[in-house]
Amino acid sequence: MATRHLIGLLLATEEDWPTAFEAMLDRVGPVRYRGETHELAAARIMNEPFDLRSTPRYTLVIDRLSWWYDLPREWLKKIALMDDVYLLNNPFTFQAMEKHAAYCAMMRLGIKVPATWLLPHRLPPDNPRYVPMAEQYNPDFDLEEIAGWVGYPLFMKPFDGGMWVGVTRIAGPDDLHAAYDDSGERMMHLQASVEGYDVFTRSLSIGPQTRVMRYDPGAHGHYRYLVDLGFLTPELEGEVAAISRLVNAFFRWEFNSCETIVKDGQAYPIDYANASPDIALVSLHYHFPWAIRSLVAWCTFCAVSGRSMRLNQRTREYFEVGDRDDLGYEEKLARYDELAAAYFQTEEFEEFLAMVLPNLEELTVEYVESPEFGDLLVRSIRLEVEPERQEEMIERCRSLVAEWAADERAAAR
Ligand SMILES: Nc1ncnc2c1ncn2[C@@H]1O[C@H](COP(=O)(O)OP(=O)(O)O)[C@@H](O)[C@H]1O
Ligand SMILES: [Mg+2]
Repeated sequence: MATRHLIGLLLATEEDWPTAFEAMLDRVGPVRYRGETHELAAARIMNEPFDLRSTPRYTLVIDRLSWWYDLPREWLKKIALMDDVYLLNNPFTFQAMEKHAAYCAMMRLGIKVPATWLLPHRLPPDNPRYVPMAEQYNPDFDLEEIAGWVGYPLFMKPFDGGMWVGVTRIAGPDDLHAAYDDSGERMMHLQASVEGYDVFTRSLSIGPQTRVMRYDPGAHGHYRYLVDLGFLTPELEGEVAAISRLVNAFFRWEFNSCETIVKDGQAYPIDYANASPDIALVSLHYHFPWAIRSLVAWCTFCAVSGRSMRLNQRTREYFEVGDRDDLGYEEKLARYDELAAAYFQTEEFEEFLAMVLPNLEELTVEYVESPEFGDLLVRSIRLEVEPERQEEMIERCRSLVAEWAADERAAAR
C-alpha cells in the first residue's frame, strides 16, 4: 500500500505555476523511498470557515495568498501549531519579521547592509494617548541632520515594504521633506543608496536551492529577470547565494527571494523579506522550469522523508558566530552556510534527489517541450496579460523556455 501525501495550494488567480506543478507531480508519479511507495497529489485549497479542532487533509501547503489575506494566514498558523502540516514559510516569522527585522538580524551577523535609520511616522497613530505621550517622550528631531548622517543619495522606503510602494530615491533636502510629508501614516526607513553598481541580483530560493539571477529593477514587471548567465564570478555568485540561504535558514523561510546589489566586488543585500515570491511564467520565463522543478523536488523531499517543520528560530547559533571578533566576513559566511546546510538537510536532500528523483531534470525538459505545456503557456498568458501584449509575451516565453530546455539538454550531454 502506498502512502499518500496531499499538497495543498493556497492561490489567488494564478493558473500557470500551479498547473505546471500539478502536471509535474503527475509525471513524477509514485516514488520509492526506503522500501515504501509514496504517492503525491496536489489540491487547491478553499477559504472556508473552519473549526480550530478540525484535521486538515494536507501533508504540506504552498502558500501564495496569506501575505494579503488574513483567513488563510490564520488557518496556516492553526495547522502549523496543531496538525504538523509542513509549510514552506514559517507563518510566525513571516508575519512578524518584515524588512526591518531582516535588516537588523543581518547587520548583527556582519552582512553588508547599507546604513539605515528608522524615522517616526509623519502622521502619528490616531490614539488619544499619543499627544500626551509624545509631549513627554518624543523629542524634536532634525530630519536633514539624520539624512546627512546616512548620506545622500539615499532611499526613503517603508520599514515593512514590498512591491516598490512608497519607495523614493532622494538626492537632497527638498526631496527629503517632500517624501517625508508624503509618507503619511507609513513608517519609513532612510537607507544609503548603493550607487553606480555593477549588477543588481535577485535570487529565488526554494529550500536549499538558490538561483541567482540578474535583475533590472527599473524595467517593466515582465522584463525584470534577465537571462544573462555567468554574469558574476563563481565566488560572488556563491556569496550572494550564501547570503540568501542565511536569511532563509535564519528566519525559517524556504520560498523566498532576496535582492542583493553588487558593487566593486562587494555584495550589499537590500531587500530579503519577500517570502512567497512571484514565480509567474511571464516574470520568470527562462527560469520558470527551474522554479517548478525545484518546488517539486523540495516538496517531495519534505513530504516523503517526513521532514518536520521548525517553528522556533535558533538565533543564538548564528549570533555566536556573528559576535566573534576573531572571524572575518568570509569565515563567518562559511560558518553560516554550515548552519544553513544543517537546517535545510542539504546533504540528505541531495541524496534524496539522486536516489528518489533521478530523472526529474529530464522529466522537466520533456514537460516544457510538450504540447500540454504549450497550451498552458498560451492560456495563462491570455489570462494575465493585457490583450495588446499577449502575442509578444507568448512568443517571448515560448522561445525563452525552449532555450532553457536546449541549454539543459546540452548540459546533460
Ligand atoms: N539602498 C539602496 N540602494 C540602491 N537602490 C535601492 C536601495 N534601496 C532600494 N533601492 C531601489 O528601490 C527598489 C525598491 O526597494 P526595495 O527595498 O526592494 O523595496 P520593495 O520591498 O518595495 O521591493 C529596489 O529594487 C532598488 O531598485
Ligand atoms: Mg524589492
